[in-house]
Amino acid sequence: MTNPTTSSGKLTLSGLPGRRARIAVEKPKNSKQVIFRLWKYLIREKSLLFFIVILLLINTGATLAGSYLLRPIINNYILPHNTPGLIRMILLLLSIYIVGSLAAIWQNRMMISVAQKTVSIIRSDLFSKLQTLPLKFFDSNNHGDLMSRFTNDVDNVSDSLNTCILQLFTSTITLTGIFTLMVYISPMLTVVTLFIVPFMLLVASRIIKKSKSFFTSQQVSLGIVNGYAEEMIRGQKVVKLFCYEEIVSADFEKINYELRNKATKAQYYSGVMMPVIQNLNTINFALTATVGGLLAIFRGLDLGGLAAFLQYSKQFGRPVNEISSQYNTLQSALAGAERIFQIMDEIPEIPDIPAAVSLTDVKGDVSFNSVTFGYDAGKVILNNISFGAKAGQKIALVGSTGAGKTTIINLLPRFYDIQSGQITIDGLEIQKIQRISLRRSMAMVLQDTHLFTASVMENIRYGRLEATDNEVIDASTLAGAHSFIQRLPKGYQTILRNDGDNLSQGQRQLLNIARATVAKPPILILDEATSSIDTRTEQIIQKGMDQLMQGRTSFVIAHRLSTVRNADEILVLENGEIVERGSHEVLLKQKGHYYQLYAGQFD
Ligand SMILES: Nc1ncnc2c1ncn2[C@@H]1O[C@H](COP(=O)(O)OP(=O)(O)O)[C@@H](O)[C@H]1O
Ligand SMILES: [Mg+2]
Repeated sequence: MTNPTTSSGKLTLSGLPGRRARIAVEKPKNSKQVIFRLWKYLIREKSLLFFIVILLLINTGATLAGSYLLRPIINNYILPHNTPGLIRMILLLLSIYIVGSLAAIWQNRMMISVAQKTVSIIRSDLFSKLQTLPLKFFDSNNHGDLMSRFTNDVDNVSDSLNTCILQLFTSTITLTGIFTLMVYISPMLTVVTLFIVPFMLLVASRIIKKSKSFFTSQQVSLGIVNGYAEEMIRGQKVVKLFCYEEIVSADFEKINYELRNKATKAQYYSGVMMPVIQNLNTINFALTATVGGLLAIFRGLDLGGLAAFLQYSKQFGRPVNEISSQYNTLQSALAGAERIFQIMDEIPEIPDIPAAVSLTDVKGDVSFNSVTFGYDAGKVILNNISFGAKAGQKIALVGSTGAGKTTIINLLPRFYDIQSGQITIDGLEIQKIQRISLRRSMAMVLQDTHLFTASVMENIRYGRLEATDNEVIDASTLAGAHSFIQRLPKGYQTILRNDGDNLSQGQRQLLNIARATVAKPPILILDEATSSIDTRTEQIIQKGMDQLMQGRTSFVIAHRLSTVRNADEILVLENGEIVERGSHEVLLKQKGHYYQLYAGQFD
């Protein structure tokens, strides 16, 4: 049974509905830099942002002014019993609040559109960036983790841009405004009010710290639950086959209980924050009211001023509370943004050299001269590989698993760059050829197939986008795929989903062969292309494949040696070195590695 903790926290599931798992609250390593880069994205909407700031000032101004109006209302209208004036003032108050609310609504709407626009640009940039990265990057990065940058991290950034930043600004401005007005009304009373603030902050930070630790473990638990669910949903067949349903359910119950525990605590602590702060606020209010009352009696503080002041001291707690609670959201957003920017800073595929040429009329002479290569520096995988293929020749690569056959052919389209030696096509070093042109000159059929969510027709046409429908059908016929495609519900217009889930492995491979066929490349690479096809079907398409290879330089890696007998040259690889080479007959006579491999298949 798989250990659920293997997927703990790190990889979170985006597939489960209604549940967006987050990575445990992380801290960005370099907040300033991240903020600066986010700002550079935001500032593209300069004029909108300017407008938002204006609205924000109107909104907070209205709140502050509304409370301040109590002073003249009480002093000049209520105490002197001026009813018409009072009504006028109340109408004024009303209109100030209406203007404030309208500004708030408008400001929120504008901020959301700025945020969403920014996030969509970030998302596009991230995706485009990924398209430029070398395969090496994808080898060394967990795919789930990359996916979570698109989902969780972008979501976190989006959340905080939507509301958090605005709220932080509003709260800060409100706080400053309240403070200034409080001092203006009565410096002495301000000191009394502020007396309790450090205490409030202390309690708040304690609670936040506590709830944060539970929040973190809640996220980890959530990650485990999601990861487990995903694994079991994906592995339903294996679960059913080995009758693991009950064990799986019991396991799930355990981790689910764990999550419930953590979530309860996290929610409890974050829920306790509000009432505690409110109570402290009430105490503060009582204290201020008492001292304020005394000041009014003995020091001549005006009643209106006292009322306005009390209003402010009541409002004081809210922005303090908001700033501290937004802090977490902001932190995880910055951490998310940092992870996004990390990818954006990855080194892309080395660009073509300026003098790179575009290949035209490729003949297909390929040669490897003393090529040495390792995926990681320091670990040699291919050692001093030399061989040549004349245009139109068929070269077979054989050898045990892990010998380096796939690695050799990965070098030809420059999926990876060699460390030393030389690879040439028609005598031109491949580093001196434009990548696009280099890759257009070859087609590959690999053992792992990949089909896109699109019709069969479009999937095959991926080989050469200009191909007409008829060319696609011809290619499929040649590849031996035509007859089964016709039997699909909608023939060539059948939409494939989920990497061609509803096709057999062999059928998927036939589509890939058809895709290579339609590309009509001068160089063809088949890496275990027919290993998932039964022998009978293989024989049927062998003719098509032979026809396809006709006149093209082909490199064939095949498990079943019978399919490479007719190769012009067979290279036998062991541990990254060519140990034997020659035609089938010559190699058999040598009674070496090849002989043993061949004999082994007919035991
Ligand atoms: N992307 C990769 N990163 C690091 N090492 C790799 C990678 N792909 C293959 N290798 C290593 O290179 C060696 C040769 O692998 P490969 O060329 O795939 O063998 P095969 O002959 O079976 O096709 C193996 O030891 C394998 O572990
Ligand atoms: Mg291989």
